[in-house]
Amino acid sequence: MDKEKIIVTSALPYANGPIHLGHLSGAYLPADIYVRYKRLIGSNIIFICGSDEHGVPITITADKEGITPKEVIDRFHNINKQAFEQFGMSFDIYSRTSLPIHHETSKEFFLNFYNQGILNEKKSLQFYDEKAKMFLPDRYVEGTCPNCGNEQARSDECENCGALYDPADLKNPKSKITGQTPVLKETSHYFFPLGKYQSRLEEYVAQMSKKYGWKDNVLQYCRGWFKDGLQDRAITRDLDWGVQVPLDDAQGKVLYVWFEAVLGYISATKELSRIKGDENLWKKYWQDTNTKYVAFIGKDNIVFHTIIFPSMLMAWNDANTDKYVLPQNVPANEFLNFEGKKFSKSRNWGIDVIDFLKLFPADPLRYCLAANLPENRDTDFYWKEFQSRNNGELADILGNFVNRTFTFVHKHFDGKVPEKGELKPIDQEILNLLSGYPKKVSDLFEKYKIKDGVAEIMNLARAGNKYFNDSEPWKSVKSDKEQCATTINLSLQIIYTLAEMFYPVIPFSAEKLFKMLNAAPTDWFKSGEANLKAGHVLNKAEILFTKIEDSVIEKQMSQLGSTSETPQETEKFEEITIDDFLKVQLRTAEIVSAEKVAKSDKLLKLKVNLGFEQRQIIAGIGKSFQPEDLVGKKVIMVANLKPAKLMGLESQGMILAVEGSDGKLSLLQVDGSIKPGTRAR
Ligand code: 2FM
Ligand code: ZN
Repeated sequence: MDKEKIIVTSALPYANGPIHLGHLSGAYLPADIYVRYKRLIGSNIIFICGSDEHGVPITITADKEGITPKEVIDRFHNINKQAFEQFGMSFDIYSRTSLPIHHETSKEFFLNFYNQGILNEKKSLQFYDEKAKMFLPDRYVEGTCPNCGNEQARSDECENCGALYDPADLKNPKSKITGQTPVLKETSHYFFPLGKYQSRLEEYVAQMSKKYGWKDNVLQYCRGWFKDGLQDRAITRDLDWGVQVPLDDAQGKVLYVWFEAVLGYISATKELSRIKGDENLWKKYWQDTNTKYVAFIGKDNIVFHTIIFPSMLMAWNDANTDKYVLPQNVPANEFLNFEGKKFSKSRNWGIDVIDFLKLFPADPLRYCLAANLPENRDTDFYWKEFQSRNNGELADILGNFVNRTFTFVHKHFDGKVPEKGELKPIDQEILNLLSGYPKKVSDLFEKYKIKDGVAEIMNLARAGNKYFNDSEPWKSVKSDKEQCATTINLSLQIIYTLAEMFYPVIPFSAEKLFKMLNAAPTDWFKSGEANLKAGHVLNKAEILFTKIEDSVIEKQMSQLGSTSETPQETEKFEEITIDDFLKVQLRTAEIVSAEKVAKSDKLLKLKVNLGFEQRQIIAGIGKSFQPEDLVGKKVIMVANLKPAKLMGLESQGMILAVEGSDGKLSLLQVDGSIKPGTRAR
């Protein structure tokens, strides 16, 4: 039996809003399926999560609502904890980073690094709100991205195109507190020397990925960071909400939320130790080289779990005898979109978990999300797909197979498992298929191919249904009762295996199945055998899945979205003169080459021919176009835009595009006969 000692963590969600279906698909449901499966095979596993309760977004919500950050985190911690419970997340603990144990742990790490002398104190220019008399870290400033024109870009980073820039380059910066234009003011911060760990991190990533098969997306992402060279990272901020920097001369400074959030996994395990009354429990997991640590996250968290957290653990391990284990695997998922677009609260696009579970039980949602996990690429939740997976797969395949078998056994075999007779080829075939299942599914789950594993399990239900049909027990019950008994016996064995295999995916329904079977989960790897003995008494069937009517789905779809994206008729523009307009040199440019920019899935590096010269453009269009599809296109560009640096690359102009309601960009193009350099006006 597998006795691995395992820590599984799911990214700690910010207690700043309710979690939605996209979050579930990224870091939570796959982790829960993996953990439930590992528990079934007998692993010694702990599953850790909790709320991430610091960071600027929480303080912004508090300011906006005129309440304290504490009130914000209490509200969303409770909402999310409850949503996770209803969804069936089987965390061993759902902790909080506002707990004293977390503050102590984070300070301990900071002081350890400080005392080792590895932190650098540096001065830098940061936005400062003179009216509010405070520095404006991270999301406290909003402005226009110098690259893509996104008007909600942060002080030094644009979430829309992934560009990183100097705060001085942000256009039209505004304080989120007073709405005023902030000034740049010098402040001093502590920096963690990430570069110092680069070669060890590269070796760590190479070794782990080779040995444990890291996902390609994760590996590519790490390589991109390594290629650009790791830089010092500021690990303190000028804020009052967070973990205080534990130094006398650092009043008004807190630890950067990402520095301490990752340590939340450790402090949450300490909290679990306290609750269990075993003060060393956390050490038995975190400080034992035999422990396998797996961190489930969404793709936006990769750098923090494959580079920053491991480097912090390396720094700790260098100077201490109690050494921590590093993540052995980080199976990051891509994003789940909703009906073809990103989830958006302001555009009323998507649905929160807590609201979803008021309408439907957890299992159909778990199954639908699991069958469509964004493991290798972004995927979408569609209401219609949810309905068809519930009605056509859970109800018509699994539910139907179980129901007809149970109805039959109660009607014709007194509710007891009938003795099987001589096996015909059809029976032998299904038994062979059944016996291979535990290993087949296990192999997939072990490789974090959860989606494929789930598809296989449903295939077993499909095969069971077909076996039942092809065997025609309603005929053999009259003509050959022994043959009929064999069909029903084997159908029940399949159902037992289905209960076992489906337990990690749809635990509430699997529990019902076990109750109907009057049996507990068996040894996973033996579950594909005929385990139910003849004469075993079964319970009555329960309804497993209810079909969802079209009208219910249509109602949900009709409630989606708002008109705020489409221009209002009354929209007012500031007028400009023709001379103003002519200052903008709009020129035809032919795209000569295009390639992805490392570490960014939005930026592309283009070479364009302007007729009189070639230019390099760093364009935030990578989500809408493959580089090879762009070559040869004639587009319109702003040819006299001041060059700007994006992710260290100079952009010498901007090409024009419009965004469709599905978020996809469409380029402004001219026909092939127009010569490069021709002016548009
Ligand atoms: O992206 C997020 O929602 C972060 N709160 C995840 C933190 S994961 C870990 F570091 F705690
Ligand atoms: Zn941008």
